[in-house]
Amino acid sequence: MVEERRSLVRWLLGSGFLASIVSFLYPAFRFMNPPQVAEASVNEVPAGKVRDLKPNSGKIVRFGSRPALLVRVNDTEWRAFSAVCTHLNCTVQFQEERHMIWCACHNGFYDLHGNVVSGPPPRPLEEYAVHVRGDDLVISKRA
Ligand code: FES
Repeated sequence: MVEERRSLVRWLLGSGFLASIVSFLYPAFRFMNPPQVAEASVNEVPAGKVRDLKPNSGKIVRFGSRPALLVRVNDTEWRAFSAVCTHLNCTVQFQEERHMIWCACHNGFYDLHGNVVSGPPPRPLEEYAVHVRGDDLVISKRA
């Protein structure tokens, strides 16, 4: 009878210890292996009003889960790009003084076609299409 109680106590202590180990390791395992979340595919987003952006300026808009850069080159010309630098994924911005797209992280420059002008970016920026619909601007992926 005493031996049965000892083995029961040992079993309870052992299973408690095992439960403690699992409770520490499981969150670490989940952190290192997050569940796959399907990223919603976005092909077109509203980008504001024509009057909101003066010529020779740019702004960042959301394109799904990623940033996009909308540039108003002049009164009638618009450009849009993925704002994710092709070097190490920093967000690029429009630089009014140089009429270029600039990545502040490592001083990378792109022209207004998304081509690399200088710095470490290895590839051009992905260019999007800009549609002017009345007073509304829409950015879409190119077909
Ligand atoms: S991340 Fe853009 S130049 Fe390095």
